[in-house]
Amino acid sequence: MTYHPPSGHPSTHPSAAKPSVAPRVIVIGAGCIGLSIAWRLAAAGCTVDIYDRGTAGRGATHAAAGMLAAAVEAEPGEQALLPLTLDSQRRWPAFAAELEAYSGLPVDLRTDGTVQVALTRDDVEVLRSGFEFQRGLGLNVAWLNGAQVKEREPWLNPRVAAGVLGADDGQVDNRKLALALKAAALKAGARLHEGAAVEALSLTAGRADGVVVDGALKPADVVVLAAGAWSRQLAGLPEGAVPPVRPVKGQMLALRMDPAQPLLRHVVWPPKCYLVPRLDGRLIVGATTEDKGWDDHLTAGGVLALLEAAWRALPGVEELPIEEMWVGHRPGSRDDAPILGPVPDVAGLVMATGHHRNGILLTPGTADLVADHILTGRVDPLLAPFGIGRFQGRSANGMRL
Ligand code: GLY
Repeated sequence: MTYHPPSGHPSTHPSAAKPSVAPRVIVIGAGCIGLSIAWRLAAAGCTVDIYDRGTAGRGATHAAAGMLAAAVEAEPGEQALLPLTLDSQRRWPAFAAELEAYSGLPVDLRTDGTVQVALTRDDVEVLRSGFEFQRGLGLNVAWLNGAQVKEREPWLNPRVAAGVLGADDGQVDNRKLALALKAAALKAGARLHEGAAVEALSLTAGRADGVVVDGALKPADVVVLAAGAWSRQLAGLPEGAVPPVRPVKGQMLALRMDPAQPLLRHVVWPPKCYLVPRLDGRLIVGATTEDKGWDDHLTAGGVLALLEAAWRALPGVEELPIEEMWVGHRPGSRDDAPILGPVPDVAGLVMATGHHRNGILLTPGTADLVADHILTGRVDPLLAPFGIGRFQGRSANGMRL
């Protein structure tokens, strides 16, 4: 059976009509975004092939901290992103439960809140203005005094002056998530090709009809570009379909706590770093934000800044062994929001990239909404503002704004 591409209509995007049968889909990129879309589509009966230049889940997904922090990460200038981040945060419990049941693997979702903390009077001013901003957006945030913060996390610096609790925020173990998503996608019937770099997109009469791998055409009805910070390197993309995504370097490290007596139990955001305790005793300390392209060096200055910020908030880290240090590359778009959904003038091509700081948080929403678009042609109102067309003044259905 063949998927018959719908004919274009002036008022709808060419891919916006319901396909007659489940399409053959190629997903470029086996991070949490690509794997989750592949899982959803394969489970819905599509033929799905995932190509990754490296190993599944070993790019930005591996490097992340796994924070689900729609509230405390909400920053001025990013209000447009909130409906999407909040929606995805709400999807997380059911998504995690379904994924764990389907794959048989844990993802360690925890919805026990995160706290931003202030150590000095200046920090309190900054925290207060962020809190007013977040509260003004209707987010579930609560002001805590120093004693309340220490009650929650007794090993924090005794000088902690105040905190903001994001009670709906939490974390998931992103490395376990990658393993579970890979297992789920494979169980649903998706085929995973690792060490298989996609050389180019194949276009016929303006329609994406496959990709080139090892010089051979791999045909498809739909191609999903989910290659994170590598997305703009795909050859064959027409001008206007090249996603403005760049690597944003982050240095991170993991310390080893005694899991029976952890120094920290919940995610904490002191000034200049964040601290993410895992159930097994790992304490993730992140992260620098550097526009250094693909530079992947750990630097003394980067690690020193993180350790100093962590030590100021949680002096006991001084005694902890360093278990791991690494560099990741967030896929940052021109406006720091993801690029999702159909591409004007390139039928059959669907974007799922540019998630920047929010890839793990946005995984369930991206998977569900992008898969729904591919299966039904619908562009959900939550997805619509994030089309690549916004960089050319065009809406998600291709209309000029
Ligand atoms: N979301 C945390 C980070 O990007 O470092």
